[in-house]
Amino acid sequence: MTYVVWSDMFSVRRPYIDNQHKKLLEIANDFHAALKDNKGKEFLFEILNSLIHYTEEHFRNEEEIMEMAGYPAVDIESHKKNHEQLVRDIFGLHQGFMHSEEKTTHELEIFLNNWLVQHILLEDKKYEPYCENLTDYRPRK
Ligand SMILES: [Fe+2]
Ligand SMILES: [Fe+2]
Repeated sequence: MTYVVWSDMFSVRRPYIDNQHKKLLEIANDFHAALKDNKGKEFLFEILNSLIHYTEEHFRNEEEIMEMAGYPAVDIESHKKNHEQLVRDIFGLHQGFMHSEEKTTHELEIFLNNWLVQHILLEDKKYEPYCENLTDYRPRK
């Protein structure tokens, strides 16, 4: 994975969510930088833990915003399944990282790239048109 730089094409036009996506991207870039600089397992684990923590919060907020925006229930359901799968994947990688650092590191880089780039561009972007009338989102959950 190379560093992923934020650009307007990632925007879902909701500043709250865009800022979270930016933050997730930043954490993924930190992970990449730490790997390049051979920072060691402890350090990588810390980044991974903050990624998991932040991801769960982001998914909660994003699912809420989809509901508030009136995104069709069937699409919310499939988006939620997608999130659940991503969480399972990242926990799996977290486990794998404890046992076999090298193999998992490569998988993690692919995962971060896929997730950040593909999920935002292909899945998150779908709810964007429904958010037009939503202003000033604040998380309830
Ligand atoms: Fe999403
Ligand atoms: Fe997202």
